[in-house]
Amino acid sequence: MKIAVLPGDGIGPEIVAQAVRVLEVLRTEGLKIEIEAAPLGGAAYDQYGAPYPEFTRKICRAADAVLLGAVGGPQYDTLDRPLRPERGLLGIRKDLGLFANLRPAVLFPELANGSTLKPEVISGLDIMIIRDLTGDIHFGEPRGMRTNDRGEREAFNTMIYTEPEIRRIAHVAFGIAMKRDKKLCSVDKANVLEVSEFWKEIFTDVAREYPQVQLSHMYVDNAAMQLVRNPKQFDVMVTTNLFGDILSDEASMLTGSIGMLASASLNESKKGLYEPSHGSAPDIAGKNVANPLATILSVAMMMRYTFNNIEAADRIENAVKKVLEKGFRTGDIFEPGMQKLSCSGMGNQVVAALG
Ligand code: NAD
Ligand code: IPM
Ligand code: MN
Repeated sequence: MKIAVLPGDGIGPEIVAQAVRVLEVLRTEGLKIEIEAAPLGGAAYDQYGAPYPEFTRKICRAADAVLLGAVGGPQYDTLDRPLRPERGLLGIRKDLGLFANLRPAVLFPELANGSTLKPEVISGLDIMIIRDLTGDIHFGEPRGMRTNDRGEREAFNTMIYTEPEIRRIAHVAFGIAMKRDKKLCSVDKANVLEVSEFWKEIFTDVAREYPQVQLSHMYVDNAAMQLVRNPKQFDVMVTTNLFGDILSDEASMLTGSIGMLASASLNESKKGLYEPSHGSAPDIAGKNVANPLATILSVAMMMRYTFNNIEAADRIENAVKKVLEKGFRTGDIFEPGMQKLSCSGMGNQVVAALG
């Protein structure tokens, strides 16, 4: 198992350090894990002058899987756009063809009472959000800023999907729905956007190859509302890059915290990039208080999806469950009566629970 580790920026190095400890436990027990670290994002800009430098690209291309923390920070927000950390992340996703982003919003029952939502609304929650990750307005050209004929400044981006891009994410979504409750909700804005109308048309067409799956369509504004009104109506949701970005952050709160939402970004082969869904959290960086569980759960996803090591994946998830059962919490999921831990303190507990 050749794993490239990209700590990134902000809380990235802190949370990734805890996830690497989990990998090290598995290695001590005999899994052949090779780890190679490389910078991405602001850290890479500082060292190499580019957010996804050749050094990092080589290591990631040679690896079977990539573990990433997060990128970005206010000190980079005034750089030219191609030099910004976020472009490094978009660059690696595009470079490795990681078009299928899986973000499972699963509630650990132990966190039901700590949520900002009523326990009965979220108990038993288990939604798989599938987000296209390499198309849409994130990558669409043309993009930019200019002065128009009237001498006014204006800015523009392009929301665009090709038919093959829609078809391949549709097949991923239907395939996952087949393995779950056979219920797929495709989220769009087809009442206004041509690109969404096209998306809907292709999904309806692909659906004919999966007659057992019940496909429904929902407008994104309604979906945002339904996710907090009655999230358990959903099993698998699939949507475009930008809508998926927003809805998955929203769904993370159904699990208690953005610090709990893992993700897998997969390409046509089994290579994957695994990262928490959240960002570099500059407001808490360097304080050793971030929740490392989303990153640790991303390692479980890595074991499941890239290495097909279901036993290791289950073990990591069970270790997290055990730690939560014992009442250990980082600040973001803390509630009175529980024991508050630091980021590394939580790592200690997960490592202990694994043993
Ligand atoms: P963010 O996800 O970094 O933070 C949002 C809020 O959630 C903050 O209050 C933060 O403290 C909290 N939070 C996030 N992760 C947490 C964790 N593990 N434990 C406890 N609390 C956590 O989003 P933002 O503030 O909008 O963005 C900050 C930077 O991160 C920006 O530069 C942005 O571009 C970048 N970003 C990167 C990624 C990524 O690398 N995948 C994703 C989103 C944002
Ligand atoms: C995410 C982030 C990224 C995105 C940014 C940092 C480029 O928000 O991974 O969810 O928009 O995809
Ligand atoms: Mn996001």
